[in-house]
Amino acid sequence: MLALSSIKPNTNSVSTILEINNLRKTYDSGDRHLTVLEGINFKLQAGDTCSIVGPSGSGKTTLLGLCAGLDRASSGSVILNGVTLDNLSEDKRAQVRNQYVGFIFQNFQLIPTLTALENVMVPLELRGERNVQQQAMELLARVGLAERHDHYPTQLSGGEQQRVSLARAFSNRPTILFADEPTGNLDEETGEKVERLLFDLNREAGTTLVLVTHDLELAEKTQRIIRIKGGHVVSDTGAPEIVQQQNGAPQL
Ligand SMILES: Nc1ncnc2c1ncn2[C@@H]1O[C@H](COP(=O)(O)OP(=O)(O)OP(=O)(O)O)[C@@H](O)[C@H]1O
Ligand SMILES: [Mg+2]
Repeated sequence: MLALSSIKPNTNSVSTILEINNLRKTYDSGDRHLTVLEGINFKLQAGDTCSIVGPSGSGKTTLLGLCAGLDRASSGSVILNGVTLDNLSEDKRAQVRNQYVGFIFQNFQLIPTLTALENVMVPLELRGERNVQQQAMELLARVGLAERHDHYPTQLSGGEQQRVSLARAFSNRPTILFADEPTGNLDEETGEKVERLLFDLNREAGTTLVLVTHDLELAEKTQRIIRIKGGHVVSDTGAPEIVQQQNGAPQL
């Protein structure tokens, strides 16, 4: 394990959980440069809930990955719980993620060779916690899947897999939870069940929540909606001046 000393949070800014400054991401292949995100700025405070919406290809998943330290920006900065991620190595970013971040993917991304229980245990083991199995069982019970603990992902329905991934995401008591279209692959009824569970767990744990969704009904359940288009923020209910400057009239 790497020492955590160099990535300790700055306690002065502890109520700001996520700070994004002038973020830019380009992908280069040969002589082609694709600018996917540019000039992105926002801040989230502890306990905030926020949705990122926008058309397909607008950069939502890219933005979420940068905010969560899964990927590195081309320029600008990401400060997560007081830790500046920009110049950290992949190993250190992985440590920061394990310490503060939960992530939920549209396609669940459970480890196929591990049972439901083992999937939930992974982040706890990485943190070197005790009573890992018991904690993971309690989380599986919380999402209603205690009896399915020894089933592999392929033996579970999509909704059940997403509930396991919720248990896994909350297992390390994240400071901030990122969810990329968490109900995008589920039917309406199952999606609503997962959605309720997501908001309930989030409220109980007091986690900051950032979710990407195409579902405006889901987006409206969060306190703030940031809309991106062509890699730019075009409206932000948490910073209404962006709407005034760019469009003259408020959008959603
Ligand atoms: N690794 C990569 N290399 C090159 N281009 C990429 C890469 N990852 C994403 N892109 C491009 O970046 C743009 C934004 O992609 P992103 O996945 O962030 O969009 P999105 O808003 O999440 O879309 P969707 O709603 O369809 O999920 C797209 O044009 C995509 O093709
Ligand atoms: Mg996406």
